[in-house]
Amino acid sequence: MLRIAVFVSGRGSNLKSLIERINSDIITAKVSVVISNKLDCPAISLAKENNIPYFFVNEISKEKFVTFSTLKDILISKEVDLIILAGFLKKIPDDFIDTFENKIINIHPALLPSFGGKGMYGMNVHKAVFESSAKVSGATVHFVNKFYDEGKIIMQRCVDISDVENPDEIAERVLRIEHELLPDVVKLFSEDRVTVENNRVQIKFK
Ligand code: GRF
Repeated sequence: MLRIAVFVSGRGSNLKSLIERINSDIITAKVSVVISNKLDCPAISLAKENNIPYFFVNEISKEKFVTFSTLKDILISKEVDLIILAGFLKKIPDDFIDTFENKIINIHPALLPSFGGKGMYGMNVHKAVFESSAKVSGATVHFVNKFYDEGKIIMQRCVDISDVENPDEIAERVLRIEHELLPDVVKLFSEDRVTVENNRVQIKFK
């Protein structure tokens, strides 16, 4: 069974959609651990409600927090197969990325490679999309490499935003799509259907 670690910093709605799909047996996987850089965020309450172990991470060691180096050992000891960044707002250290090469994925609330990069998170993304007058937006799940939002794309889904009147409407439509897209991608991983061949992400169809 696919063992997952989900990294969060806040609301946790993507974590929730994933837990729901797993609990209703749509995905054969287990959220083995939740990692947060924030104490007491809603995502951590969700982990507690679902009896999922959780840890807090920080670059330097401080009370209640583990470092990324300790976290590596924790994830290895839990035999985690896939790490999901679902609204995790801290940069992952390079050596951590090296250790888990092609095992870390991120969900981004726009159609990469547009509207990504440093500072492009949360409403900043939707405001930029709104200001560009783009007629479609969407969500992207991609592998994490050492550069913000630049890893190879695994799957994307778009949504029509031609009639929106403000960035909040874009955020709402994109989030709805995220809650379908991320579980769909995790299902593919759980069925061992995602590979990286010839420098491209390939999805094996049944
Ligand atoms: C999502 O929009 C995700 O794309 C982005 O951060 C947000 C997290 O939302 N990376 P939530 O915490 O899952 O509700």
